Amino acid sequence: MQPRLTYGPRGLEGNAGTMASETIKITDNRTGNSKELAIKDGTVKAAELREFKTSADDFGLMSYDPGYLNTASCRSKITFIDGDKGILLYRGYPIDQLAERASYLECTYLVVKGELPSDGQLKAWTSEIAAHSAVPANIQKIISSFPADAHPCSMLVSVLGALSADYPESRQVLDVAVREEMALRLIGHMAPICASIYRHHTGQAPVEPDASLSYSGNFLRMMFGKPGEKYVPSKSLERALDVLLILHLDHEQNCSTSVLRNVASSQSDIFCCASAAMSALYGPLHGGANEEVLKMLREIGSIGNVPAFVDSVKAGKGRLMGFGHRVYKNYDPRAKVTKEMADAVFAETGKNPLIDIAIELERIALSDEYFIKRKLYPNVDFYSGLIYEALKIPAAYFTVMFALGRTGGWAAHYLEMMLDSEQKIARPRQIYDGAGRRDYSTVGQK
Ligand code: CMC
Repeated sequence: MQPRLTYGPRGLEGNAGTMASETIKITDNRTGNSKELAIKDGTVKAAELREFKTSADDFGLMSYDPGYLNTASCRSKITFIDGDKGILLYRGYPIDQLAERASYLECTYLVVKGELPSDGQLKAWTSEIAAHSAVPANIQKIISSFPADAHPCSMLVSVLGALSADYPESRQVLDVAVREEMALRLIGHMAPICASIYRHHTGQAPVEPDASLSYSGNFLRMMFGKPGEKYVPSKSLERALDVLLILHLDHEQNCSTSVLRNVASSQSDIFCCASAAMSALYGPLHGGANEEVLKMLREIGSIGNVPAFVDSVKAGKGRLMGFGHRVYKNYDPRAKVTKEMADAVFAETGKNPLIDIAIELERIALSDEYFIKRKLYPNVDFYSGLIYEALKIPAAYFTVMFALGRTGGWAAHYLEMMLDSEQKIARPRQIYDGAGRRDYSTVGQK
């Protein structure tokens, strides 16, 4: 049997269970009271801090953690990251092995169901996803109603929410079978919806899916094919897209997935949860970074301008987009895969001249004290945009592509969360910093 992996101050290790003696003794110097709190899986229960009080009517001690720098919000069996060692595992499988040998649909099955599929299971999963690979008519109408210059992420936020109206049964969130069916619909609908948003922007009619193609081949067809005509995707570009989707598939409690879990905690349906997650992913500090990387590389313009750009970042004038990560304090293993893949893609499409600027930027940044001290390394977004561009996907769609990959992870987290008996409605506390009680006076009578 595989050892259970646990993440904590001990890093990646087999979890032999928690010894009864694993406690921490805390002395409250305000009162002199000491208490022992149990340590389980490298954590203490934040609610137990409430036992530290200065008087009987004191609310009790809370932890203060803006941005959740050091708070585990759930237990999860989906993805393991060791940020110091640059390790990323989906259900125990290393990301580099999956990126080299598995397909996106195989990996979505893995993260959603917990195990790699057998041949028969993968075939059934593929046809179940394909059964949902057309855009529902109402949704197509909504897509067509957006202005031509609407940002694709804004559109996707709305369309994901609209799926909830199209599938009212999705509100039966306490029914496991309904939840699983809705998760399948979400994953299946995402590719045609993303492609349809692109077709709308480019003034083209949607292209019907072709079940004989792979998931990624079909997506390329729906983006770039012609209605009623056969589309034969380039094998290497189809594979490159599949790998990017695998790399984006899941990343444990990142901003968008945490948002999805927070919304799910109020028993909202999966489509509304995914819409909320998409709103979070859209931001430039999260999934929006890949679009920003391309803008940044274009602004730099030439290798000669790189040192001056790095100096401006160090002087606090903006960030080096595609660099840094809350969890990785070593090279992001996903960035390693995208960097290697870029060469294979450019061999077919011709080299994107921005890659030379990116490589020089990385070289200078990685040898600069500012970035070394802060442990800032390229993240997944640093090279992925260059590959998407080689696939002819415009920069404004990069975050949509991130969402396409991440949908399987969102579905897995939704399903896992809804089965977690330790979860409660998400409801953080606050430190109130505002005015004290005061009496109301009518306007003009102050
Ligand atoms: N360029 C320059 N300085 C940086 C950068 C950067 N990209 N990232 C962090 N720093 C500095 C930051 O100014 C701070 O310096 P100081 O200690 O002097 O104030 C220090 O490093 C720590 O930064 P932080 O903002 O406290 O770190 P964080 O963990 O809160 O932020 C991050 C993580 C990803 C938001 C941040 O590194 C960033 O803004 N990166 C650029 C945007 C980006 O590429 N985002 C994609 C992340 S990967 C895809 C995903 O999973 O979302």
